[in-house]
Amino acid sequence: MTHVTHLECSVCGKRREPGRIHNLCECGGPLLVFYDLEKTKGAWKRDDVATGPRSMWRYAPVLPVREARSIVSLGEGLTPLRQTTRLGARLGARNLWVKDEGINPTGSFKARGLSCAVSMCMELGIRKVAIPSAGNAASAMAAYAAAAGIEAHIFMPRDVPQSNYIECKAFGAYVTLVDGLISDCGRMVAERKDAEGWFDVSTLKEPYRIEGKKTMGYEVAEQLGWTLPDAIFYPAGGGVGLIGMWKAFDEMEALGWISNQRPKMIAVQTEGCQPVVRAFERGERASQFWENAHTVAAGLRVPKPLGDVLMLDAVRKSGGTAIAVSDEELLDASLELGADEGIFAAPEGGACVAALKKLLANGFLQAEERIVIYNTGAGLKYLEAFSARFPRAASLEQDKLGGLITPR
Ligand SMILES: Cc1ncc(COP(=O)(O)O)c(C=O)c1O
Ligand SMILES: [Zn+2]
Repeated sequence: MTHVTHLECSVCGKRREPGRIHNLCECGGPLLVFYDLEKTKGAWKRDDVATGPRSMWRYAPVLPVREARSIVSLGEGLTPLRQTTRLGARLGARNLWVKDEGINPTGSFKARGLSCAVSMCMELGIRKVAIPSAGNAASAMAAYAAAAGIEAHIFMPRDVPQSNYIECKAFGAYVTLVDGLISDCGRMVAERKDAEGWFDVSTLKEPYRIEGKKTMGYEVAEQLGWTLPDAIFYPAGGGVGLIGMWKAFDEMEALGWISNQRPKMIAVQTEGCQPVVRAFERGERASQFWENAHTVAAGLRVPKPLGDVLMLDAVRKSGGTAIAVSDEELLDASLELGADEGIFAAPEGGACVAALKKLLANGFLQAEERIVIYNTGAGLKYLEAFSARFPRAASLEQDKLGGLITPR
């Protein structure tokens, strides 16, 4: 199992013991998990990976869980990486791949982070969790909490996609719909968690969701024969997937599995909420709160990500960039991906396709580069957003009671 050694604050460097309950460092910095990679290197070869489980838990030696029985898995990870057949050729990207995270349990990559975080809750004896979410993390939290038999308290904006709300209720979670954004939800969890005895599973306020998400980086290397692409497009809200993959690349290099070549990391946001793009363009270390955030790509409606410094740092070190697209552009692009490749992408995935078009047009990327787009969720979760493109006469109340699928 794991070769975890300690946790370390990403801001002040203070170390902490594993096997205890942790949230943020006293200095406010997120904690990251470290492993004895020298020891791991001797015990686990990259060719051994293929013999592991057919889920992200094939990477258990570099995940934080100590006891196999703590693992709460619904089959997350090991998602397809597909080379495009028509889309790339049409856009002028000859070597274009899509990592389809919509295949995950609850239809998004959030399953990875929450499988890991909930497994750690089992290991540490935590029985009640609370999460502020832009939507998909809530669905995944509710599902894994149900699978683990622990209590989940969900805070999400009132206008999240209907799928997120119904999933959370179906999984038996306690749901509070908030007239506000994920930042307001985060404040509510912080205010109530001590009195209620909840463990706060907010993005980067606990150290384990990022560990689950980093497996997206291990998988892309495994699926490309232990090489990395030239560029990765990632739809960045909290940015944890991007930070996690960047961490995974360093770990794999230390394990001797990959070279020091790194992809250009491209953080994609939307015009209605682009704090990271603004900070990147201004050369700032951290982002500033984006006022009046709005976008149909619900997962990207994060006005001030806690991991902004880590994300901006990774993007800059990689020689990548940060770019925003409009809601119109990202919906068009999702539908192009659907019609060309048979992948019904979430708006967040569509945003990456729209951003790719822009970066090919302005010469930032070249036709022959090997490019991977992360479609972080399933389009099926966003029927309200796509209904705007395909309106249909509203059904009558009696239709909804069964008349839709059986003759009346
Ligand atoms: C489909 C989807 N894509 C991307 C994101 C952003 O994720 P991250 O926090 O890793 O930036 C979210 C977050 O809710 C999401 O639901
Ligand atoms: Zn610190």
